[in-house]
Amino acid sequence: MDAAALLERTWGGGGEIFSGTSPGRVTLIGEHVDYAGGLVLAAAIDSFVTVSVRRSAASTFRIVSSGRTVERAETMPCGDIGDRILGAVEALRRAGHWTVPALDIAVEASLPESAGLASSAAVTCATLIAVLGLIGASVAASEIVEWALVAERDIAGIPCGPLDQLSVVFGRSGDVLLLNCLSIEVDARIPWRWDDAVLVVCSTAERHDNGGDGYRQRVEEAGEVLAAVGAMSAQETVDPAALAALPPPLDRRGRHVFTETNRVQRAAEVLRSGTAADLGDILSASHASLRDDYEVSTPLLDAVVAAATDAGALGARLVGAGFGGSVLALCSEADADAVGAAMTAAAGDGGVAWQLRPDAGAAWMNPGTVV
Ligand code: GLA
Repeated sequence: MDAAALLERTWGGGGEIFSGTSPGRVTLIGEHVDYAGGLVLAAAIDSFVTVSVRRSAASTFRIVSSGRTVERAETMPCGDIGDRILGAVEALRRAGHWTVPALDIAVEASLPESAGLASSAAVTCATLIAVLGLIGASVAASEIVEWALVAERDIAGIPCGPLDQLSVVFGRSGDVLLLNCLSIEVDARIPWRWDDAVLVVCSTAERHDNGGDGYRQRVEEAGEVLAAVGAMSAQETVDPAALAALPPPLDRRGRHVFTETNRVQRAAEVLRSGTAADLGDILSASHASLRDDYEVSTPLLDAVVAAATDAGALGARLVGAGFGGSVLALCSEADADAVGAAMTAAAGDGGVAWQLRPDAGAAWMNPGTVV
């Protein structure tokens, strides 16, 4: 069922409905560097969240999502399923759109939650776009990114970088984005050139750490590393000896942040003129760094990565914040089914694998509201 139909089934017909759709994203390479101002290669993907809204006959916000409904008078988070959606409404109010009325809101998604594929950013951006449609505002794509970051950082209180928001808004069908997380913009769009190489993702039943303690600790540690070596961002060149001299675990954390940014630069060259096998090697190197230096993997994620490469993947790594979530594998089209099956088997109960394609971001999917 689509979100608009869900809304009418839940609270009856009547009143004009406005909808916004956002994809999720996959990070190709460049994990845990966005909050250190690093570079990331990422793409919007062909799994989506749609949010439909209309003025509410009640004086409160009414939300239906994943078979649950809540009714809320306030927009600030209180720990229920309305938090993400009303966080977007609160961000709009803070941006000066005070006229947002009480709303009926329905959410439908093909994008799994808490799988490391940016479902939070997707829900937030889809809500922003739906509500902007209702109040009759057209805004620049960069404003959607900015307000979604306010919702995540200032309202939900998660100290994230801009990777998710930039990807889900600016993605374009068939392109990988080179994101500059220091200037918060897209530095380049690189076409996916290999017809015979595909991305397979496997989500596990281990929920990833969306803004949890492990994530916050890594953000703090990355900040300490930058301060200790006198760098403004992960894009600077730092003497490896200076990183090695830091007290543990900052030595390892620093090595990940700077080598991962370097892997992004190499991967961008490979996407332009190298082979899928070269990119596979870089993905696998990234996983080793996330596992050993950044310590955000789990035994289950490691097992899914190993299953992918044993089944013939060119490379594989955990995707998103880690501590659970999903694994991304790069493989030839001929091996994709076998790789997906091996990953699903290794993931155990709740493991699901499917192929991803770089797809359109929210800015392209909602013309008119996003200009
Ligand atoms: C989460 C955060 C992003 C980024 C990744 C790790 O998805 O929302 O900002 O830090 O983790 O690369």
